[in-house]
Amino acid sequence: MDCVIAKVGKDKKVRNFYPGLFADELESAPDRPGVVRVLSHQNDFLGVGYYDPRSRVALRVYRFEEGPLDAKFFLHRFARARAKRARLGNFHRLVHAEADGLPGLVVDRFGEILVVQVRNRAMEALRETWLPALIEAAAPVGLYERSDTDSRRQEGLPERVGVLYGEVPAVLNVDEDGLVFQIPIALAQKTGYYLDQRENRRRLEQMVQPGQRVLDVYSYVGAFALRAARKGAYALAVDKDLEALGVLDRTAFRLGLPVDIRQGDALEVLDSLARSKTPPFQHVLLDPPTLVKKPDELPRVKRLLVDLLRPALRLLDVDGWLWLSSCAYYLGVDELLEVTRRAAADEGRRLRVHAIQYNPPDHPWSLHVPESLYLKTILFQDDPL
Ligand SMILES: C[S@@+](CC[C@H](N)C(=O)[O-])C[C@H]1O[C@@H](n2cnc3c(N)ncnc32)[C@H](O)[C@@H]1O
Repeated sequence: MDCVIAKVGKDKKVRNFYPGLFADELESAPDRPGVVRVLSHQNDFLGVGYYDPRSRVALRVYRFEEGPLDAKFFLHRFARARAKRARLGNFHRLVHAEADGLPGLVVDRFGEILVVQVRNRAMEALRETWLPALIEAAAPVGLYERSDTDSRRQEGLPERVGVLYGEVPAVLNVDEDGLVFQIPIALAQKTGYYLDQRENRRRLEQMVQPGQRVLDVYSYVGAFALRAARKGAYALAVDKDLEALGVLDRTAFRLGLPVDIRQGDALEVLDSLARSKTPPFQHVLLDPPTLVKKPDELPRVKRLLVDLLRPALRLLDVDGWLWLSSCAYYLGVDELLEVTRRAAADEGRRLRVHAIQYNPPDHPWSLHVPESLYLKTILFQDDPL
């Protein structure tokens, strides 16, 4: 096996279970991509990984003890990932990349169907080894690939979308606590459904009262809105994705749950609603896409959030609840608090922080990989004196 040597000081990252090093953090490396042993400059063994200088992160570390990256290794990783989700039903994230010891691989389980995303060159190169292991460990009826992510494009890898194994229906049935969505898998966003907001949706359904008004902005297929409607609340869902809103419309019709839908840009719809005579909402949810992918985008995105929050606050009832989420690593709790404080000052509203929620357990957050904490939801309540 070839070796890479970490630069002095950079070995600490790997010793502390961080699974990646940039090319300029390596003292020496082989002249071709492949599986490598990772050593410190003093020749201490640090781990086993995959080296490819064309990758944004040239070295990805997969194990921190000696051994091959073979079928047995991947079987063990997948078995552990399954065991961690043993009590989480049949619809969950089965593999959450680094946090499950598999940088570059995401696997979502939708009942008997798995949807995978291969996000880096290492997992792409090792595909023939891990794929049979995943099939053996999870025994799906079918496996579909949605490797059309930005991260993959950054790696210089081509898109791969389609059936990888077995039988995959064109329309996935996604069952969340009895709300069944029928999602055309090839047309959907990401892996098809945002499993990561399930806990917050449950919480909303517990809190919302019949007759209340709920504004679900960035709704995707309207899983928040439908839960509110199931409780007898009025729900208005806003998204720009017509395909997703089509799923919402059909689901609402099939379940007999009325949900109003507005297709358009969130900021424009919020502004126009705030200018209209619409009655206030007791719950306003803002769950935007990953707005920030690089730190230098942060100032612009913070301004956008303040602009979104101003009309959102105008639409919020006295004592109402504001749910603000960020799935961007760079847009953390501090930034969310800051933008909300700025918007509240502009609108003369006083808020209290009721709760802060993070990734749910099927999207684990590894202490050693700060980037694995990506989802934050702050639940504010309007709090007039
Ligand atoms: C993180 S997802 C929302 C997930 C959703 N809340 C759920 O529970 O499934 C972000 C959504 O924002 C939508 N979106 C992105 N940009 C938008 C924009 N400018 N205006 C309205 N919707 C937008 C996307 O279509 C996507 O459905």
